[in-house]
Amino acid sequence: MIEKKEIKVSKIRNGTVLDHLNEGSAYRVLEMLGVDNDYGNPVIVLMGAESNSIERKDVIKIEDKFLEPDETGMLALISPNATISIIKNYNVVSKRKIGLPKKFIGVGQCPNPKCVSNQNEPISTVFNVETKDPLILSCGFCENVVDSSDISAH
Ligand code: CTP
Repeated sequence: MIEKKEIKVSKIRNGTVLDHLNEGSAYRVLEMLGVDNDYGNPVIVLMGAESNSIERKDVIKIEDKFLEPDETGMLALISPNATISIIKNYNVVSKRKIGLPKKFIGVGQCPNPKCVSNQNEPISTVFNVETKDPLILSCGFCENVVDSSDISAH
C-alpha cells in the first residue's frame, strides 16, 4: 500500500487555497497577488511541502478572500499545474486547475522596450507558447522569444 503523505497545515474556514504550486514559485505568486505587509488578510505560505503528484510543492492559503479569475491570470505563467480552491465554511465549493493556454492575452508585459505593446498604445499583450517545459513564449507583436519568468517579472 502506498502511504499518503500528509501536509500538516490547518484547514481554513473561508478563503482561497492555491495548491500544487511549483516548488519555489510562492514568492512570485505572492508578488503577483500584491501580498505585502498591508495586505490585510491572513496568508499562510507553505514552501517545499511533500506531495504525491509532484516532487514538492508550495501552497498559499488566503483567509477571507475569494480570488476572482482576473486576479490570477498570471498564475499560468508562473505555475500552470496549480489548482485554485474556494473554501466556504470549511468546504471546497469550487476547484479549478489553472492549465496552460495556447496563448496568453493581456497577461504580463513584453521585455522588449521597442515592442509596439510597450508604446502606450491601447493594445493587449499577446504571447504564444513555444515550449511547455521550460515555459518559453514568443511575443505576438515583436516575436521576441522569452522565458516566462522574464514576462511575469515586468
Ligand atoms: N483546504 C483548506 N481548508 C479547507 C478545505 C481544503 O485549506 N477547509 C485545502 C486543502 O488542504 C487543499 C485544497 O484546499 O490544499 C483543496 O482541498 P481538497 O480538494 O479537499 O484537497 P485534496 O483532495 O488533497 O486536493 P488535490 O486532490 O487537489 O490535492
